[in-house]
Amino acid sequence: MKSSCAFPLQHYTRRAVEIIIEADAAALADRAAQIVLGELFRKPDLVLGLATGKTPVGLYERLRKQPTLFQKVRFFNLDEFHGLGPTDPDSFHSFFHQHLLNHVKHEAKNVHLFRGDMKDFEEEAKLVEDRIRVVGGIDLQILGIGRNGHVGFNEPGSSLGSRTRAKTLEPDTVAHYAAGGKTPPNHAITMGVGTIMEAKKCLMLASGADKADIICRMVEGPIMSEVPATALQMHPRAIVVLDEPAASKLKRGDFYKWVFANKWRVGQK
Ligand code: PGA
Repeated sequence: MKSSCAFPLQHYTRRAVEIIIEADAAALADRAAQIVLGELFRKPDLVLGLATGKTPVGLYERLRKQPTLFQKVRFFNLDEFHGLGPTDPDSFHSFFHQHLLNHVKHEAKNVHLFRGDMKDFEEEAKLVEDRIRVVGGIDLQILGIGRNGHVGFNEPGSSLGSRTRAKTLEPDTVAHYAAGGKTPPNHAITMGVGTIMEAKKCLMLASGADKADIICRMVEGPIMSEVPATALQMHPRAIVVLDEPAASKLKRGDFYKWVFANKWRVGQK
């Protein structure tokens, strides 16, 4: 039967933010890989936005098992520390090579990672925003969330309409990324919240009980620049994959599980 509604049914049944709760970090990584691979099969020249941090490492491990799927993929990333060039072992540039790019077939010309060693961050920010526009926008942006609610390096108080720019980091963020006795720089370049919100699809991952409070605020709290990740509540195609510990403080966790188990699929009888 033809609907007389202005919008087809799927627009009504699609949640703005889809919450998927998995048992543990391994199941979370399996689910995330399934979603990314689904997008890759659909569009082999996917424009893929990468994220750093501990959380997506399991996802990248799984993606590496499909090394031939990335030959046409265009890669961008969320952020980079100030002053760290591509060959610096502590740079996010090195992180992506270590965890993904060194293991999959890809074209160097398709890798558009931030350079933290650019003297002029404003120029670098403009360059990356222009490159995103030239390729037609990010198709799928992978995201983590900081315990303070940051997304990318958009620390609390970031404008929800912000564009790519330099940011001063909170001391806890800097401490989180300290490794091998080395403390990273206090400044970074990051895609803005507004830039992230223009990605056609966002896939946020959060794992562990120490993320439970911020996940509750992000999913069920008011939208506010104090928790920049809450902007995702307004994204039309955001998926948040959590493990049980990260989901443990959600008030409506059982409902999200029920919705996912009974998900409406277009064309179903
Ligand atoms: P994490 O970092 O995955 O190491 O917790 C997430 C983030 O800071 O965005």
